[in-house]
Amino acid sequence: MKDWREEYKNKVCSSDEAIKKIKKDGRVVVGHACGEPIELIEALLRNKTLFKKLEIVHMVAMGKGEYAKEENKEYFTHNSIFAGATTREAANAEYGDFTPSFFFEIPKLFRKGGNLKPDTALIQVSLPDEHGYCSYGVSCDYTKEAAENADIVIAQVNKYMPRTLGNSFINIKDIDYIVECDTPIIELKIPTIGEIERKIGEHCASLIDDGATLQLGIGAIPDAVLTFLKEKKDLGIHSEMISDGVVDLANAGVITNKRKNIHNGKMIVTFLMGSKKLYDYIDNNPEVELYPVDYVNNPFVIAQNDNLISINSAIQVDLMGQVNSETIGNKQFSGTGGQVDFVRGASMSKGGKSIIALPSTAAKGTISKIVFNLDSGSAVTTSRNDVDYVVTEYGVAKLKGRSLRERAKALIAISHPDFREELTKKALEKFKKI
Ligand code: COA
Repeated sequence: MKDWREEYKNKVCSSDEAIKKIKKDGRVVVGHACGEPIELIEALLRNKTLFKKLEIVHMVAMGKGEYAKEENKEYFTHNSIFAGATTREAANAEYGDFTPSFFFEIPKLFRKGGNLKPDTALIQVSLPDEHGYCSYGVSCDYTKEAAENADIVIAQVNKYMPRTLGNSFINIKDIDYIVECDTPIIELKIPTIGEIERKIGEHCASLIDDGATLQLGIGAIPDAVLTFLKEKKDLGIHSEMISDGVVDLANAGVITNKRKNIHNGKMIVTFLMGSKKLYDYIDNNPEVELYPVDYVNNPFVIAQNDNLISINSAIQVDLMGQVNSETIGNKQFSGTGGQVDFVRGASMSKGGKSIIALPSTAAKGTISKIVFNLDSGSAVTTSRNDVDYVVTEYGVAKLKGRSLRERAKALIAISHPDFREELTKKALEKFKKI
């Protein structure tokens, strides 16, 4: 049998050479979040005149997102599956677009018969092991499926990419072009936890019992929740992603995963976003396993964990309990991500709870996030049938199983005091009494 090292050598080329193999008006899927292959994206930009509206499909873009800028619209068109700071403008402009999807269904879109089958996958992986397998590192999620369905796979092989375990590997034989480049892995800025987040964190933590399995999103609220879990016992993780805060709780012996029904003793995630502290922790660590998102975020898989608690945030919640987590009016602000996957998984889990945790106001207290009606043009991310708990700094509203009138009353009670009178007036016009 041919030694994989020989095959590896034959596939090594420069990033500029590799980029020239991409079909000029085809479709490229780019590795997700902190797994973005920086050097390949830079080469794409350097060689942009080779392309004619090359479609770039990307979820959270943590890099510069220059392919999504208006000045590059002749060469690239951005199809976003989760708008972020650098891609939001394109997702809402005539030179870009947005594709709504549950996170767990994105891999299906890349397969034959899906609408987003890639011509090329641009991925970033770890150095190969002795058997010729590279790890997808911090981004297994949809990236593995994109590579498995693309006609051409171009991989940035990076010594800084941690080797994560689970089902998160690609063999050298399945990569077409290898670009060796050791750029530091993108790190997530650690959010500042303020007084409001701290209060929300404390309310959320009150809903978490010993032995629960957690899903936590990104940002100050999930991080604040973690700071209130130090006294808990035997927590587990089955989450779309984890960040640095989880490392401290694992090291402190709070997260043991010992009471998980599936993958006992292991944290299960599909991608990772954090600092070098997290990346060092997960490198070759058998306590953390990454699997593709159509497994990790599949509500039926999530639900196999008893006492699954999911915590996600929102832009607005209306008095019926409809949750908009992704639009500001008509504009796409972010995306559905895994929110609904976990809300539904938690709902089916024995003893499970889903929590939508949000500050009661936005824009320095001038806008209430608890609203009578969602703004015109808003997407409903989590429906009123799916929603369970809503938490603000003013407390906890339990909505599942509650009537519309009961929901209105519970939500007004956790809205900011400055907006309660107006919300009550509108609720009374609708319900006559609350
Ligand atoms: N009306 C107008 N503007 C609003 C608003 C509202 N109701 N709510 C928030 N905003 C503005 C804020 O003022 C802020 O603006 P700024 O950047 O100019 O300060 C901006 O929107 C972001 O708000 P913030 O509360 O800081 O957002 P966040 O970073 O905590 O993210 C979500 C909140 C809802 C956007 C984010 O959690 C998300 O995209 N969720 C959907 C996906 C998901 O849940 N995935 C699950 C697992 S990761």
